[in-house]
Amino acid sequence: MNNTLQARRPVTAHGARTRVLTGVKPTGDIHIGNYYGGIKPCVDLSQQDDFEVILMCADWHGLTNRAKILEAGEKTPGILAAYLALGFNLKGNALILQSAFPQILENSWYLSCVTSVGLLERAHAYKDALQNGKEPTGGLFYYPVLMASDIMTFDAEVVPVGKDQAQHLEYASDMGKSFNAATKKNVYFEPKALIQETPLLVGIDGERKMSKSYNNDIPLFGAAKDAEKRIKEIKTDSKGLDDVKDPETCVVFQMLKSFGSPEAVAHMKERLENGTGYGYGHAKKDLLDEYNRFFGAKRELYEHYLNEPSEVAKALEPGHEAMAKVADAVTTRARDALQLFPSLRSQRTAR
Ligand code: TRP
Repeated sequence: MNNTLQARRPVTAHGARTRVLTGVKPTGDIHIGNYYGGIKPCVDLSQQDDFEVILMCADWHGLTNRAKILEAGEKTPGILAAYLALGFNLKGNALILQSAFPQILENSWYLSCVTSVGLLERAHAYKDALQNGKEPTGGLFYYPVLMASDIMTFDAEVVPVGKDQAQHLEYASDMGKSFNAATKKNVYFEPKALIQETPLLVGIDGERKMSKSYNNDIPLFGAAKDAEKRIKEIKTDSKGLDDVKDPETCVVFQMLKSFGSPEAVAHMKERLENGTGYGYGHAKKDLLDEYNRFFGAKRELYEHYLNEPSEVAKALEPGHEAMAKVADAVTTRARDALQLFPSLRSQRTAR
């Protein structure tokens, strides 16, 4: 195998910072569990000078289920608006839409041609679909190749993902290495997975991880009354007003911790541990107040972006432009390595 991959620095758009890329599928509506586990870490990273963060809305990945093929297009404006409203820093970083980059599809083809069917047959999502008696689409089968291309088309160095994506990252490395070995050229940059160990946020049933599909979530930008109703429904134990309560096992407290200010968190912790005159009703009220304080202003901004798609497009444009240069450079490297009739190509395209 080719081990020279790491030796080459990726093409840079924003100086010598470490290029971090991650993707989100535009499915479902976002809730505080997504905020805590995915959005916040990414927004925080985008505020740091050492990293160039590329956040991709992976709308093509959202198409793999035939019955829900329109969902990705419908949800994309909401995802982009949410990341902007929640503070993704566009300066020197990029929020990009996958379907704006045909280079990804081109590279995914090259990667698929060095990937054995057997490897794709062992992919979790595909195996699960088969096991559950579903009829997987070709798109679902191809999913890991497309994801590998998302990463390597932009010369990404580090890819933060949840544990469920670890296999996809291993596949991406394998595909990049196979391509480089097969062409004997150093085309794709091998990405490093950064597996995030954020503990899962439990939902309002107090049992399972927060998820829209379990209907136990607290939405971020749903109708204002929605969150209030959901917070009131949070299941707690039967401790009374004056019982001492353990914040570590208190769902209300864990939710507050996922977005609340240090002051609000410290206040609730103290009141729960103190155990005099502070019941779960009080805790829920404090959680709702903090929710409204923290997400209220952001909700206005979110709605503004939803209503003004042209402003979103304008905000994203510089990042798209910078990343298109990177994608073109990588794609040219791949074509050159494959010796795909370069002289004809250079007459016909700018690349
Ligand atoms: N497959 C990822 C998920 O379901 C989303 C994704 C698409 C992604 N492209 C990516 C993640 C590239 C990291 C890098 O969560």
